[in-house]
Amino acid sequence: MLKIKISGIGSYLPKRVVTNDEIAPQIDSSDEWIFSHTGIKTRHVAAPDESASSLAVEASKKAMEQAGAKPEEIGMIILGTTTPDYMNYPSTACIVQKQLGCVNAAAFDLAAACSGFVYGLEMGKCYLLGHPKTKVLVIGTEVLTRHQDWRSRSTAMIFGDAAGAAVLETVEVPDDTPATLTGNTMGADGDLAIHREGGSRLPPAPDHIHDIPAPAEYPTLKMDGHAVFKFAVSTLDRILCQICAEGGIEPAKLDRIFAHQANTRILDSVARRMKLPNEMFYNYLAPIGNTSSASIPVCLDKALKEGELTDGMKIAVAGFGAGLTWAASLIEWPYL
Ligand code: UT7
Repeated sequence: MLKIKISGIGSYLPKRVVTNDEIAPQIDSSDEWIFSHTGIKTRHVAAPDESASSLAVEASKKAMEQAGAKPEEIGMIILGTTTPDYMNYPSTACIVQKQLGCVNAAAFDLAAACSGFVYGLEMGKCYLLGHPKTKVLVIGTEVLTRHQDWRSRSTAMIFGDAAGAAVLETVEVPDDTPATLTGNTMGADGDLAIHREGGSRLPPAPDHIHDIPAPAEYPTLKMDGHAVFKFAVSTLDRILCQICAEGGIEPAKLDRIFAHQANTRILDSVARRMKLPNEMFYNYLAPIGNTSSASIPVCLDKALKEGELTDGMKIAVAGFGAGLTWAASLIEWPYL
């Protein structure tokens, strides 16, 4: 019997750490307000010579080393990001493919924002069902501190830069091995609650062939914080219950839930709605903030290193974000 397994996981955080105190004066805020309203204390910020691809390469090297995967064994790279190196081509996945020397890999970016890593896990799993001899690298990588307006009270304190990566592969197990817990849901609902201008939706000027426009001002991320908060709480509750029903397990029987790290109050509200203890929701917001598609693999890597995630544990991963998008999966670690 074949099973699909996460055989390696790695993460990378840029060196520079920015505290709440450092940004509070420019948004007329305080460390106390930011921590009490978001759970965030500090965030990592990429150096000028770092980018989504360089963060991804560092995280991927660690994941591949742990998996014992050679670059040429990777058949597909699925890279979730909202902050690609280029707008929008070549894909950041292609840059990572070249730098890692994954000469046999197809590579593409996956635009599902903070749900990107969980979308990627399911896509990777589906690919491996059809191509069981290969290995898939799933990445979440973000330099969102480059999109946020550092003078905006509603976004400046939230985001941080990071990357996380996982290697998926197919393994042969004896036919009488018990079935692994499975369950997945993914979805979308087109909405501009979180968005950034600057795409190709409009021509750069009504007659841009003759009336050549001046370069536009650098667009920053816009977010309706209240709408996203409500969406996050109701969606996490719904999708976690949905996958647990599919997998035939009570949410309370899960060992841990790794939900997207957007705000401690969101995690606590979901716990309250689901009548679960807050501690069931892994929380790593204080030191790194919201790292979008990187948040879940960074948490998985940390939990593994600290012995809080061990073989056989029944966990859920659940993301939500711009799009709007959401995705959740059950994992009986390390089997998807
Ligand atoms: O990956 C997905 C991404 N996004 C999210 O998950 C975001 C979800 N939303 C949130 O996390 C929260 O809505 C925020 C953290 C963005 C904002 O927290 P909030 O509790 O919803 O604040 P609020 O907008 O309701 O503002 C409450 C008060 C207001 O003052 P008054 O009108 O009550 O006097 C604001 O002016 O707090 C004030 N305020 C601030 N004060 C200090 C708003 N932002 C700040 C700030 N510092 N940064």
